[in-house]
Amino acid sequence: MPNQTQPFVCVFDAYGTLFDVNAAARRAAEGPDGARLKEVWPEVARDWRMKQLQYTWLRAVAGRHCDFWKVTQDGLDWALEAAGLDDPALRQRLLDLYLELDTYPGVPDVLSTLKAAGHKTAILSNGSPDMLAAAVTSAGLTDKLDSVLSVEEAGIFKPHDRVYDLVIDQFGGPKHKVLFVSSNGWDAAGAAGYGFRTVWVNRAGDPVDRLYAEPHHILPDLTSLPEVV
Ligand code: LAC
Repeated sequence: MPNQTQPFVCVFDAYGTLFDVNAAARRAAEGPDGARLKEVWPEVARDWRMKQLQYTWLRAVAGRHCDFWKVTQDGLDWALEAAGLDDPALRQRLLDLYLELDTYPGVPDVLSTLKAAGHKTAILSNGSPDMLAAAVTSAGLTDKLDSVLSVEEAGIFKPHDRVYDLVIDQFGGPKHKVLFVSSNGWDAAGAAGYGFRTVWVNRAGDPVDRLYAEPHHILPDLTSLPEVV
């Protein structure tokens, strides 16, 4: 187990782990123009996220990369059409909100605690550099992160090894001194397969993904992470 003299590089997935991806649809539904979303926002949020992720995997397999902002718009367009919502103003509102997502409870404190204990902190995300800069700034996390790494430098989406290589390029090895934290079970599995220590933040109480590696730790939320580290 690490201690004060054995600092870890604590690397966080962004969307779904630090940032609440349901917050855009939820906040749009609560807003003054949100009447059409009131009943259906949970389905819109679910479909948006599902299609966004599916498109990353499909584009990676097909070798047809584009940035995560394009995938995010494509996923939203699918979700809005599935919900029968043809409303350009609502679409724009949802995209604007995606750039200023709420963080999950305790996120700033967890990052501060880790840094105070001498660990490095970073994001490694599918998000494009512009998206990540907007979200990090809006959430006030800039000073709590040593680095924000985007897959755009690798030109392919997670869970390709070239993405996890970005952490080693930035901070050096060994891989087992990196603690990778994700709420996406497939991302935690990918990082474990790569050789990182991993924490799966399993907020939904889902079964473990049947993939080529399993997370080393499973937590119900981020608040107890400093105890694991
Ligand atoms: C990310 C996606 C997987 O932030 O949520 O990389």
